Amino acid sequence: MTEVVVIEGDGIGREVVPAAVRVLKTVGNGLFEFSHAEAGDAVAERTGDPLPDETYRMVADADATLFGAAGETAADVILPLREAVGSFVNVRPARAYPGVDALRPETDLVFLRENTEGVYAGHEDRLSADLSTLTRVVTTSASERLAEFACEYVTDRGLDKFHVAHKANVMRETDGRFREAVLEIAEQRGVETEEVLMDAFATELPLDPKRFDVVVTPNLAGDVLSDLAAGLVGGLGLLPSANVGDDNGLFEPVHGTAPDIAGRGIANPAAAILSAAMLLEYLGKTEAATSVRAGVEAVLADGPRTPDLGGSATTDEVTDAVLAHL
Ligand code: NAI
Ligand code: MG
Repeated sequence: MTEVVVIEGDGIGREVVPAAVRVLKTVGNGLFEFSHAEAGDAVAERTGDPLPDETYRMVADADATLFGAAGETAADVILPLREAVGSFVNVRPARAYPGVDALRPETDLVFLRENTEGVYAGHEDRLSADLSTLTRVVTTSASERLAEFACEYVTDRGLDKFHVAHKANVMRETDGRFREAVLEIAEQRGVETEEVLMDAFATELPLDPKRFDVVVTPNLAGDVLSDLAAGLVGGLGLLPSANVGDDNGLFEPVHGTAPDIAGRGIANPAAAILSAAMLLEYLGKTEAATSVRAGVEAVLADGPRTPDLGGSATTDEVTDAVLAHL
């Protein structure tokens, strides 16, 4: 039995994760054993701890976890959980779907974001009343591991190349190491690469999204640039992500708790359901993953749609429509 931990978290996590679980239960054919765990603001208010030890252990011991979002405590939850599953890459596809009013309908790319270090490694210090510092961590080993994943990723998809976004012209030591490690692995594997400075990328992506298929980035850059891509394809309600480790993974929508709409039952469940499709794919249930994606695509094309996409449907109505397609 494949063990899947479900963490709704806060805000719309409580609305979109149950939607995704309905989908997993429908296509999973009894293959999954679900257990529920708590993390985020709500459990922190009650117990003082946003990430109970039990949750960490359950996630570390499971085959995969489906996570919604945490509010103010997001960093205290999501960073350790990525570590719990041994994740070294955050896979973030950003794709414009037919029927969705996207700024750039030709956008279809995937970010492969380094997921363990960079400026998110947590080494911040307050040195005086006036001065704070942040230590950026970059290792050759983590960069190489990301590059190996990227090479496999493009090869599996019949592509022959990926882009590497960095700023090694300024951060010569840290991004220099990142760049060198990634380029060297790609060369060894016979995969072509194209370098792009990350600030230039932020201009080039909206101007000509067709240029990019797979983009390898350091941690913070991948976070920011994938949100930029979200803006091009119709909003955060559409972007799934996978935190991939060797034998465990954590799957979550890119969006947060959306306090402005939480509790109203109108959150777009597409990002969470597409995250569930990534979970299925990771667990080798390729057919089920394809079917879920097709269901979401059909509903995005024909409706019903939630208000973020200009419709007036509820989360449940959209989920029912996806289920009807499976
Ligand atoms: P957010 O993603 O929660 O919301 C940004 C905007 O997108 C809002 O207008 C929201 O209504 C809309 N939106 C997001 N997901 C949507 C969906 N599924 N359907 C329809 N509309 C959607 O980002 P924000 O506002 O910056 O952060 C809110 C809270 O979420 C903060 O406390 C933040 O710390 C947390 N957060 C947690 C993350 C995580 O747990 N991985 C990631 C990002 C933010
Ligand atoms: Mg983010």
